[in-house]
Amino acid sequence: MKDFSELIKTRRSMRQFTDELLSGDDVKLLLRAGLMAPSSKGLHSYEFIVVEDKEMLTALSRSKAVGSDFLAGAPLAIVVLADPRISDVWTEDASVAATNILLQAEDLGLGACWIQLRERQDAEGRPTEDIVKSLLAVPDEMRAVCMIAVGHKGMERKPQNEDRLKWERVHIGQY
Ligand SMILES: Cc1cc2nc3c(=O)[nH]c(=O)nc-3n(C[C@H](O)[C@H](O)[C@H](O)COP(=O)(O)O)c2cc1C
Repeated sequence: MKDFSELIKTRRSMRQFTDELLSGDDVKLLLRAGLMAPSSKGLHSYEFIVVEDKEMLTALSRSKAVGSDFLAGAPLAIVVLADPRISDVWTEDASVAATNILLQAEDLGLGACWIQLRERQDAEGRPTEDIVKSLLAVPDEMRAVCMIAVGHKGMERKPQNEDRLKWERVHIGQY
């Protein structure tokens, strides 16, 4: 396990993966991290779908016009859902859970990348969220927030550049 400050710095979005499958233990740790995420009122309005089927991953990769094609080359996706009937701040709940999964992936030495679903369209202009929900038989009442592509890293990425941090966006005491 890395020191947390180091982990935060080395985590980068990974869009290239080796063919190696994830172990069951790693998948369980990723899901555990999502399930341990903080949520408003402790209501855990998020749910997850684990996808390993290659044909399904390819179909999901086509649900957006841009920014999702690499999912076809990933061994696994975790689709993060949320239930607005459980919490009015389901977007935040699901986003925090997704972030926990991204950080857990880095801690396991895996690569991962968030793929946005809400407010996005495929090449024909159809809503990405509807396509993903239909492919995965998600109930109408649920929302699909993002898909996380996860796998063994297929390339090196430089850590975050300390010199490019936008410290000017930090305000002390008042804006
Ligand atoms: C809300 C959100 C939506 C994102 N959507 C996508 C996406 O659809 N496709 C993609 O390749 N990366 C996506 N990303 C990853 C960002 O592009 C990436 O985090 C950003 O470029 C910074 O790079 P880094 O993660 O390596 O630090 C998303 C990240 C966030 C937080």
